[in-house]
Amino acid sequence: MQPQRDLRGLWLLLLSLYLLLFEVARAGRPVVSCPAACLCASNILSCSKQQLPSVPHSLPSYTALLDLSHNNLSRLRAEWTPTRLTHLHSLLLSHNHLNFISSEAFSPVPNLRYLDLSSNQLRTLDEFLFSELQALEVLLLYNNHIMAVDRCAFDDMAQLQKLYLSQNQISRFPLELVKEGAKLPKLTLLDLSSNKLKNLPLLDLQKLPAWIKNGLYLHNNPLHCDCELYQLFSHWQYRQLSSVMDFQEDLYCMSAKKLHNVFNLSFLNCSEYKERAWEAHLGDTLTIKCDTKQQGMTKVWVTPSNERVLEEGANSTVTVSKDDGSLHFQRVQVEDGGVYTCYAMGEAFNETLSVELKVYNFTSHGHHDTLNTAYTTLVGCILSVVLVLIYLYLTPCRCWCRGVEKPSSHQGDSLSSSMLSTTPNHDPMAGGDKDDGFDRRVAFLDPAGSGQNGKLKPGNTLPVPEVTGKGQRRMSDPESVSSVFSDTPIVV
Ligand SMILES: *[C@@H]1O[C@H](CO)[C@@H](O)[C@H](O)[C@H]1NC(C)=O
Ligand SMILES: *[C@@H]1O[C@H](CO)[C@@H](O)[C@H](O)[C@H]1NC(C)=O
Ligand SMILES: *[C@@H]1O[C@H](CO)[C@@H](O)[C@H](O)[C@H]1NC(C)=O
Ligand SMILES: *[C@@H]1O[C@H](CO)[C@@H](O)[C@H](O)[C@H]1NC(C)=O
Ligand SMILES: *[C@@H]1O[C@H](CO)[C@@H](O)[C@H](O)[C@H]1NC(C)=O
Ligand SMILES: *[C@@H]1O[C@H](CO)[C@@H](O)[C@H](O)[C@H]1NC(C)=O
Repeated sequence: MQPQRDLRGLWLLLLSLYLLLFEVARAGRPVVSCPAACLCASNILSCSKQQLPSVPHSLPSYTALLDLSHNNLSRLRAEWTPTRLTHLHSLLLSHNHLNFISSEAFSPVPNLRYLDLSSNQLRTLDEFLFSELQALEVLLLYNNHIMAVDRCAFDDMAQLQKLYLSQNQISRFPLELVKEGAKLPKLTLLDLSSNKLKNLPLLDLQKLPAWIKNGLYLHNNPLHCDCELYQLFSHWQYRQLSSVMDFQEDLYCMSAKKLHNVFNLSFLNCSEYKERAWEAHLGDTLTIKCDTKQQGMTKVWVTPSNERVLEEGANSTVTVSKDDGSLHFQRVQVEDGGVYTCYAMGEAFNETLSVELKVYNFTSHGHHDTLNTAYTTLVGCILSVVLVLIYLYLTPCRCWCRGVEKPSSHQGDSLSSSMLSTTPNHDPMAGGDKDDGFDRRVAFLDPAGSGQNGKLKPGNTLPVPEVTGKGQRRMSDPESVSSVFSDTPIVV
């Protein structure tokens, strides 16, 4: 009897000790832990394939990777996460039913580097939608229903390297994403395959550096067949650019409702593609780029007589630029003609490029000069008349991303937006602006003035610099047209 009672006491003691420990452990745990629908592995939250109709509440603030793919999300509102997730670098939202994303949805995740929105039902990309994501490197938007890419949708994404827009309904080539001076300086991959592109800005594409063209995917589009298209892609093929080499069979065009491979347009009798030589005249200055497929390669030029070209600063008429490794001729001589070779060395691969230079034994200017001057004057005159006419009668294009022209460019709206700005509660926000009252008055004058007759020129030009300072504010700016538009979808 005695030993048995002792044992029971011991059990009770152990049990109460255990309960006590359990309580202590529970109290010590952070308030936020793994949401019920997710599997958590330290900072990775995997919540995929759970039929979730919304993002789980109270995600831990240390989350680095959040997988919400294969769920039933249809809207991503501004307050989808009440806590800021500053450690989040990857957000996976593919295979949901997303058809709305608030323009402030990405404010709580400023350090995102990888965003997967593929296989959803997005139709438009509003301006500044991604502009909070200044660290984003990869953006997946393929297999949606995107018809139009707003000219400003990808503004301020200085780190963006890869943008996948394939399998959408895009019919306008978004040249602003790739052309020189674009706001995506690091973009090396733009996938526009399997869309509805019919026409391409061929001349602009021709001018792009090879490292952009190398990642510009355009296959599976109903492009319009012509010899210029053939010449463009033949050049890319000659340069062995990945965008063409990897998808030669899928690169087609339409003619008379029939599909043709771009490299088999025999019915058009296009002339065979030939790499053209550079042409120069006696005494010209000339710069030839070493147009490599990769950025930041080390470049060495070799002359036709197999001598290495020295860097600029050397006492020579032919030098290599220190900045981008291009070949520079101070005053071209007939003897300079021949084949120059650029050897480029990169981390992943080496490249060799040959460029032929033809020099004519006469200068480019001579007796043509007087004729040229007369001609340019005439063209200049006509151009200025046309510009004045355009200025007077046509409303300028709407989308200049943020800033100067926006309010004055959309005249009907500049009226309404300036009306908005007169509401008293916005005045404290515009505190620093001395010319506030003046600006508003002119803004009211502006649409009326140009609407009746185009002669109120001073009135038209004045408000532009005035608006500048304020227009630079972003979505929250009560006075810019963009705020009027982009705020409307935020129902929440
Ligand atoms: C997904 O959400 C829609 C409404 O948004 C609802 O009608 C549907 O039943 C949901 N599907 C599942 C599997 O929960
Ligand atoms: C080129 O196109 C013609 C029809 O346009 C077709 O008969 C021929 O087989 C094609 N050749 C190749 C190599 O694809
Ligand atoms: C292409 O050339 C053939 C004969 O070589 C000619 O019959 C045909 O009309 C030409 N087609 C075009 C579009 O020039
Ligand atoms: C440059 O080289 C030429 C001959 O190649 C020589 O006549 C000239 O003095 C040199 N100039 C300088 C600044 O070294
Ligand atoms: C590129 O060329 C350099 C010099 O010839 C060589 O050392 C290097 O290994 C090459 N790199 C590759 C990736 O082939
Ligand atoms: C260039 O033309 C001049 C005459 O205009 C001639 O004397 C000279 O030999 C020519 N040079 C070459 C390299 O053909």
